[in-house]
Amino acid sequence: MVSIKMEEVLNKQLNAELYSGYLYLAMSAYFENMDLEGLANWMRVQAQEELSHGMKFYNYIVQRGAKVTLSEIEKPKLEWDSPVDVFENVLAHEKVVTGMINDLVDLAIEEGDHATNNFLQWFVAEQVEEEESAGSALNKIKLATKESNGLFSLDADFGTRIYTPSSSK
Ligand code: FEO
Repeated sequence: MVSIKMEEVLNKQLNAELYSGYLYLAMSAYFENMDLEGLANWMRVQAQEELSHGMKFYNYIVQRGAKVTLSEIEKPKLEWDSPVDVFENVLAHEKVVTGMINDLVDLAIEEGDHATNNFLQWFVAEQVEEEESAGSALNKIKLATKESNGLFSLDADFGTRIYTPSSSK
């Protein structure tokens, strides 16, 4: 069993992961409307990952004999100023999520809940990747928007096809 407090925060994180998926799906839709299908694809994959993160929390709560409590998922932002603005939002959001995961780990340590701490370590490692991936994508899009056809090239790069950008910049 996990503590009542831990059950509460695990459910909160389940909600936060589903919200992340919702946010990235909103970003995907934003790019679809701009006909930037590659960027839309990148966000769609990101959303799918978040839903799987949510399911990891769902499964863990069930596995520990605790209660899954689903609550309202906040409406995500729907509009951004530019593709760069979107990816700045992604990086900022991932940093918030990292903070939430760290707080969960702190609680698990405080409670001597080794099993939950062990479960959370996957997310600690995942957040390192998430921040790196978001930061790298942001840098790429910043560079891409400085070139006349940079965004077009990046859209292809972020899509499902294998694409080698004509310029490394
Ligand atoms: Fe599930 Fe992007 O954190």
